Amino acid sequence: QGDVFTFDPGFTSTASCASTITFIDGEKGELLHRGYPIDQLAEKSHFLEVCYLLLYGELPTADQLEDFESRVTNHTMLHEQMTYFYRGFRRDAHPMAIMVGVVGAMSAFYHDSTDISDPWQREVASIRLIAKMPTIAAWAYKYHIGQPFVYPRNDLDYASNFLRMCFSVPAEEYEVNPILSRAMDRIFTLHADHEQNASTSTVRLASSSGANPFACIAAGIACLWGPAHGGANQACLEMLREIGTPDRIPEYIEKAKDKNDPFRLMGFGHRVYKNFDPRAKVMKQSADEVLDLLGVENNPTLQTAKELERIALEDPYFKDKKLYPNVDFYSGIILDAMGFPTSMFTPIFALARTVGWISQWKEQLSDPAHKIGRPRQLYTGATFRDYVDVENR
Ligand code: SDX
Repeated sequence: QGDVFTFDPGFTSTASCASTITFIDGEKGELLHRGYPIDQLAEKSHFLEVCYLLLYGELPTADQLEDFESRVTNHTMLHEQMTYFYRGFRRDAHPMAIMVGVVGAMSAFYHDSTDISDPWQREVASIRLIAKMPTIAAWAYKYHIGQPFVYPRNDLDYASNFLRMCFSVPAEEYEVNPILSRAMDRIFTLHADHEQNASTSTVRLASSSGANPFACIAAGIACLWGPAHGGANQACLEMLREIGTPDRIPEYIEKAKDKNDPFRLMGFGHRVYKNFDPRAKVMKQSADEVLDLLGVENNPTLQTAKELERIALEDPYFKDKKLYPNVDFYSGIILDAMGFPTSMFTPIFALARTVGWISQWKEQLSDPAHKIGRPRQLYTGATFRDYVDVENR
């Protein structure tokens, strides 16, 4: 048994729920999934094994892992009728808009996994969502760029399947580079779950009304889209490109410090971490590996990011406010180097976070005390007054 983490009364008073899945120590910059540190999981495990850990609470035996991976692999295809759902969108629709719609619509295609009172249906819905998200995200990308859908293959691992569905075309097969596939898998692991962040809390609130799992996950995708949350990876790379060269960094640092300027350093700061986001450290190492592999280690965007990080971390404003790079600061640089457009950064975040949302959704439903979420408010509006006819106003 590891240490039993206890909350101080102040923290408990603000806790939205009790959970056994993920623990974050914001001051120390620690992130544990079922007690295992994220840096060890990122280095030694792989995404589907982390999915098993998040869903069932323990690392799987070899047989359990083989069975789980087989179940996921055999659910990667989408109902063929869903291809017509994609075709209802304009080609320039943001892939997140497509993902929100397609995932929400899954409840109309997979009727036999929508009854949340049935443990078997909850399990099937969990596997279907984890298995199909790479296909859903890849097809959103293919539709967006006007290329034909590429179907999943059962002989490929989870990350390789996703890369191939994104980058293969009928005229030329995409050869998956194992180092890129490993980097993609690591990005999935780093985004898998993160305690009660905004989108996970959205999923929990939606599930508290008894909504079906596909509707709950669609709600989480919608919330993740925001630039202050999952949309920050897209916003961060666009910011780095706007800065362009290291000599322009001071100008943006001053903008970020100006209270009258709404500009924030994208990829910096966090609601909980007041130290380095442990995921950002791993992501930074991965960025160096991937860009070295691709022969773009002198990538100007990466150089600007590293110089921005160095300057910001030395600046009293950021030091005093304990603002450090978060998971989104380097992820976009890796995804850009892999060939993804910025519009695919948040869909990839949503793909990876689906297992976290599902694990938290299952935990909420298994809590006998859970009731429908019904936050109260502090009313500061008008006091009681009688109606006034329009001619007397
Ligand atoms: C994710 O919750 C999660 O777990 C989310 C996530 C996950 O895995 O699910 O970790 C993923 O959403 C990461 C965050 C991605 N967002 C961004 O990178 C966008 C840029 N960051 C900021 O928008 C901001 O840092 C937030 C929204 C993330 C947090 O903002 P808070 O709650 O204001 O943070 P804070 O209380 O620590 O801020 C302290 C001060 C504030 O100024 P004062 O009111 O004290 O004067 O620092 C300022 C903030 O205004 N500040 C920043 C800043 N972030 C906070 N100033 C400049 N640039 C920034 N990035």
